[in-house]
Amino acid sequence: MSEHQWNAVEGYFAPLLAPHDDVLDAALRASDAAGLPEIAVAPTEGKLLHLLAQTQGARRILELGTLGGYSTIWLGRALPADGRLVSLEADATHAEVARANLDRAGLSGVAEVRVGPALDTLATLVADGTEPFDLVFIDADKPNNPHYLEWALRLTRPGSLIICDNVVRGGKIADAASAEPAVQGTRRCLEMMAEHPRLSATAIQTVGSKGYDGFALARVTS
Ligand SMILES: C[S@@+](CC[C@H](N)C(=O)[O-])C[C@H]1O[C@@H](n2cnc3c(N)ncnc32)[C@H](O)[C@@H]1O
Repeated sequence: MSEHQWNAVEGYFAPLLAPHDDVLDAALRASDAAGLPEIAVAPTEGKLLHLLAQTQGARRILELGTLGGYSTIWLGRALPADGRLVSLEADATHAEVARANLDRAGLSGVAEVRVGPALDTLATLVADGTEPFDLVFIDADKPNNPHYLEWALRLTRPGSLIICDNVVRGGKIADAASAEPAVQGTRRCLEMMAEHPRLSATAIQTVGSKGYDGFALARVTS
């Protein structure tokens, strides 16, 4: 199996099953024009997030790591008109691009981007007694993944879904001795998902235009 084949299959799947419209195209174009890194989820993963949110009947979604709002649009489009999406972003420029993209997507009424380190905003959300979220998408700085999972547990309810992105890292995740903080943070997060009495979890490997990676899914059971 070669990267060429992964890309060919994605080139078939994405336009067929996760086709872009003008809004999604414009979101990526605007992100690119503003110099944001090309690290948004692939269209097929965006569609997966959308389907998971719909399957979940999600009314409230929390996202950690907005970038230009590409995944935010896929998630936000799964919400009912009175739904709520809170997306946390440390970088003010990323947040500004995302807000414009969400505006163009007609999602400003349901989706809000909060600027600042996610750990600070998460503490504020808990202190404010924020209603639980039905789905949490963790896609920010990977060394903090264990802390994000802990906060996600405080901000969810039984039946909520927690998704953590980029858990394979080109296969490095299997290296227990890795010196990379992103690998160690993600390994700890996966171990917490496995051990936690209130979580039932799995992880899936993926290939495609974003290389060899994957995501973990955890359901809050009680
Ligand atoms: C992988 S990108 C998010 C991609 C986005 N979810 C998508 O698929 O379209 C990660 C984002 O997390 C942000 N980030 C990094 N560290 C952060 C932190 N401590 N708190 C909040 N956001 C952070 C980065 O600025 C970046 O925009």
